[in-house]
Amino acid sequence: MTYVVTENCIRCKYTDCVEACPIDDCFKEGENFLVIDPEECIDCSLCVPECPAGAIYAEDDVPDDQLEYIALNAELAKDWPAINEVKDPLPGAEQWVDVTDKLQFLSR
Ligand code: F3S
Repeated sequence: MTYVVTENCIRCKYTDCVEACPIDDCFKEGENFLVIDPEECIDCSLCVPECPAGAIYAEDDVPDDQLEYIALNAELAKDWPAINEVKDPLPGAEQWVDVTDKLQFLSR
């Protein structure tokens, strides 16, 4: 099993999850979204309560309307660089956190 970052992260990218993660190179960073590398995740769950956007789920608990994020995390983790340090959230994160259907805004 792995943990999965879902759409609430898009255009927010708070990065608190990175600090909670005990594994180097588990989170990978895109321009406006992070993903979890399923090959690195040790299923510890420490990142889940740390995300202010509630974006992270255990693979088995991903909501039905966001199941595509399981494959998306695995796919993008192969291409994106690792992030191991917390950064400032993206500008406007507070406005974007409650927006739904954000996949259209994902920068790949
Ligand atoms: Fe994204 Fe939440 Fe991490 S918004 S960057 S999954 S803390």
